[in-house]
Amino acid sequence: MINPRAINHIGIAVRSLAAQREYYESVLGARYEGEEVVADQHVRVAFYSIGPADRPVRLELLEPTSRQSPIAAFLEKRGEGLHHVAYTVSGIDDTLRDLKARGVRLIDERPRPGAHGSRIGFLHPAASMGILTELCEPLPAHAG
Ligand code: CO
Repeated sequence: MINPRAINHIGIAVRSLAAQREYYESVLGARYEGEEVVADQHVRVAFYSIGPADRPVRLELLEPTSRQSPIAAFLEKRGEGLHHVAYTVSGIDDTLRDLKARGVRLIDERPRPGAHGSRIGFLHPAASMGILTELCEPLPAHAG
């Protein structure tokens, strides 16, 4: 069982991080928390947070950095919008192993590096009711 401790973040595919900032900061009123390139996934990510600072909910905006990016393929097919929901888990290695043993379709059988030093793994959308699902084990300092 995934047994999530929280929603870690909501992933949103965008063509341009810069073009979105006005909306997320000035219309939605989210706090901009900076950007990071996740080379492994060919994406540049901008984080925004809402809610109390000690227990924020994060939005992860994903802009492709190359044609090889899964986000580039997603934008081509579906356009901008909701891309994935990420749940905070502890023990991501065991969780992925357990899911595989139960025959749950996975994109990642082993964790790979995510933003902020986290370790992440994706379930196949066909295994998660059409919503691409990310498991995310934060660095201890970023837990929550
Ligand atoms: Co994510």
